[in-house]
Amino acid sequence: MTSLTVNGKAMTVDADPSTPLLWALRDHLQLTGTKFGCGVSVCGACVVHLNGQPIRSCTTPISAAAGQKITTIEGVAADRVGKAVQAAWVKHDVAQCGYCQSGQIMSAAALLRANKKPSDAEIDGAMAGNICRCGTYTRIRAAIHDAAKALA
Ligand code: FES
Ligand code: FES
Repeated sequence: MTSLTVNGKAMTVDADPSTPLLWALRDHLQLTGTKFGCGVSVCGACVVHLNGQPIRSCTTPISAAAGQKITTIEGVAADRVGKAVQAAWVKHDVAQCGYCQSGQIMSAAALLRANKKPSDAEIDGAMAGNICRCGTYTRIRAAIHDAAKALA
């Protein structure tokens, strides 16, 4: 059994300690907002926060996340930054198919916690690891600027 704290709640997962956090979240805890894209840390669909930092849950074993604070898309709006990002995403109608968007939002929220007023270049740099096959990058950038303004 591995003890995890997810979105402020203590949970246990009966799985091998090497199990990727992504599968513990999706298959054991039914938190299916976090998506599987590549499985090898290159697409960003699986981004969650570990102690506030964005990580790739597809390549993070549950043993590395045990006892730490995990936040998923289901819990990101519990703080004002995540809430502002989600509101900006809705306002700008960012999602197309939506598949990449939970990872995009998690990366954007982490960016805005670290940098309250990111430039276009800083946004592009921070979001470069999040791939969107629908090409929503322009709306993502606009939504991040908007969320930064709302939080100022
Ligand atoms: S599924 Fe984790 S980075 Fe692609
Ligand atoms: S909205 Fe479709 S992959 Fe990003």
